[in-house]
Amino acid sequence: MTKMFLPDGKTEWAGVLGWPVSHSLSPAIHNSWLTEHNINAVYLPLPVRPEGLKTVIAALIETGCVGINVTIPHKEVVIPLLYELHPDAKRIGAVNTIVFNEGKPIGYNTDAYGFWKGIENRLPEERRNKAVVLGAGGAARAVVVALIDAGFKEIVITNRTADKAQNLVQLGKQIKIGAWEERALFLAGADLLVNTTSLGMKGQDALILSLEKLPITAVVCDIVYKPLITPLLAEAQKRGNPIVDGLNMLLFQAQKSFHLWFDINPVVDETLRRKLLSLLEAV
Ligand code: ATR
Repeated sequence: MTKMFLPDGKTEWAGVLGWPVSHSLSPAIHNSWLTEHNINAVYLPLPVRPEGLKTVIAALIETGCVGINVTIPHKEVVIPLLYELHPDAKRIGAVNTIVFNEGKPIGYNTDAYGFWKGIENRLPEERRNKAVVLGAGGAARAVVVALIDAGFKEIVITNRTADKAQNLVQLGKQIKIGAWEERALFLAGADLLVNTTSLGMKGQDALILSLEKLPITAVVCDIVYKPLITPLLAEAQKRGNPIVDGLNMLLFQAQKSFHLWFDINPVVDETLRRKLLSLLEAV
């Protein structure tokens, strides 16, 4: 049996702030790493309503909290409450990690890192020509920033609401916007297809997309991880495309947050993935 962790007077703490947070996998990820590295700290869920955000951030500054993850619906509205923003968070326009540096809250975004870390070994430099991104929300911004930094020459963004896609054009000159109705056409010649919409998630509408034009060598990634193998990934796998599931981005963004707080780069391995999969099956 695993020995139970008993906090003492020196126990540090971090957590995830969102509304709701009860389904978050972050406590399982971070507490596994804390145990593995024998760190005297805990990671807690912090359910905070939008109207309570300002008070809670101010209070956290006083508590000696090491840092927190920030999730829906606070990722953007938390920005004015922070002392400083890391350039990545500024570009993405959202914060998913806060470090309390001598009481000053510094905002970071580790989602772009997490996305790219989870996929980079599938995409050597000569295969970073064209990427197609479905969606234009907060997750899409992080994905697009990662693709620009990885050197993709052409990034086609297609979103149901065209205006929202247009807001992402300023991120880089390699970005093109494609009409949502024509999304299947942009897949021709792509090295990578990423779904950042909620389509295909359990309880949401299905993603309707013909993969006919997608080269068989193209990597297909879905950031949805419930179900782990979304219908998009299942279809891609069936026709022989390499696939990357949504747990990768989740795990690697967590890896960077953990590093920011505890100065240790924890390992993302199969044991942890399996643990998360069993938790996903339970909810
Ligand atoms: P996140 O921060 O996770 O990206 P979000 O900002 O709410 O979440 O973005 C959700 C994305 O899924 C958006 O691109 C959204 O498209 P719209 O901008 O048109 O709303 C997309 N999305 C959600 N439901 C959709 C649907 N039924 N059809 C097409 N796109 C959908």
